[in-house]
Amino acid sequence: MHFLAIETSCDETSVAIFTDELQILANVVASQIDLHARFGGVVPEVAARAHLQRLLPTMEEALRQANLTLADIGAVVVMNSPGLVGALLVGVSAAKMLALTLEVPLLNANHIEAHIFAARMAAGRDIFPCVGLVVSGGHTSLFHCKTPLDFDLLGGTIDDAAGEAFDKVAAILGLGFPGGPAVEREAASGDPKAHALPRSFLKDERLEFSFSGLKTAVLYALYGTGITRGPKPEPGQRRADLAASFQQAVIDVLVAKSRQALRRTKLTRLAVGGGVSANRALRAALEAMAEREQVELFIPPLSLCTDNAAMAAVAVEKWRRQMYAPLDLDAVPTYQGKN
Ligand code: KG4
Ligand code: ZN
Repeated sequence: MHFLAIETSCDETSVAIFTDELQILANVVASQIDLHARFGGVVPEVAARAHLQRLLPTMEEALRQANLTLADIGAVVVMNSPGLVGALLVGVSAAKMLALTLEVPLLNANHIEAHIFAARMAAGRDIFPCVGLVVSGGHTSLFHCKTPLDFDLLGGTIDDAAGEAFDKVAAILGLGFPGGPAVEREAASGDPKAHALPRSFLKDERLEFSFSGLKTAVLYALYGTGITRGPKPEPGQRRADLAASFQQAVIDVLVAKSRQALRRTKLTRLAVGGGVSANRALRAALEAMAEREQVELFIPPLSLCTDNAAMAAVAVEKWRRQMYAPLDLDAVPTYQGKN
């Protein structure tokens, strides 16, 4: 049984083909980074248009890599939530058209739950129940993942997402877009202890995150307390130290809150997903914590951390239960808890 999955929630057009045994035959990602870089962030209209142009060639490439034709596809999966509504609509419309013309079931997957399922795909074995940490451009959330389709939200961010903070700090430091990898590169030669930046809610019982104060603290460290504007810092030790201190503050909070969630739920597995989990320093810190706490850590390889369509294989579980999506399926921009 072959599934064709479509992901267009943000700035990556992706089509994957996988089997009911979760074997990935193709996972093609057409990045739009080049289009958005000059605006310093993702422009929703530009993203939607680019998806429209790139979706069919991406699908053809996925079929070519899998050595299949559309006639071999037994079900179509689309990630219909959350994301940019115009971008999501391109994928949702294409998936409906495909399911209708191929006369195969349509399935929907939730992008956030799919980010956790990517860890299951990479593990090659069951990882549920587990604590799930999703750290992406739009979300920073901890879940109690009972099954692939049954998540309880333990807590999330009250302002910026972790990835958003990376992107904003990259802009402040003049490091360009996308911010995450740029900050990581800059931080490599910096001292993470150079600046004492805030770690919100660190000692708090609540499993919540806040990163907007951290972003302001970076501005103050750069220009002086209360001053939020000034020239971009020159390349050099000072800029590297700021990047490293910022990155360490984010990592400390993500690690501490994950540990709190593990202790509270008494679960012994932690699955991590989303673009920020591509960060090597975060991965190393989570590994060290997991070892200390004696919990199993599941973080997918980089290609499955950032947005991709293969993680939509969470819908295979729905297909087994014949939980098909209707042909009037909507694009839903916000995370609604359950899908
Ligand atoms: O999951 P993702 O690809 O898309 C969303 O669903 O948002 O995550 C994108 C986010 C961006 O904010 C990007 O800056 C961040 O992930 N990111 C990173 C790294 N690679 C991507 N953040 C920190 N370190 C990285 N190496
Ligand atoms: Zn994502």
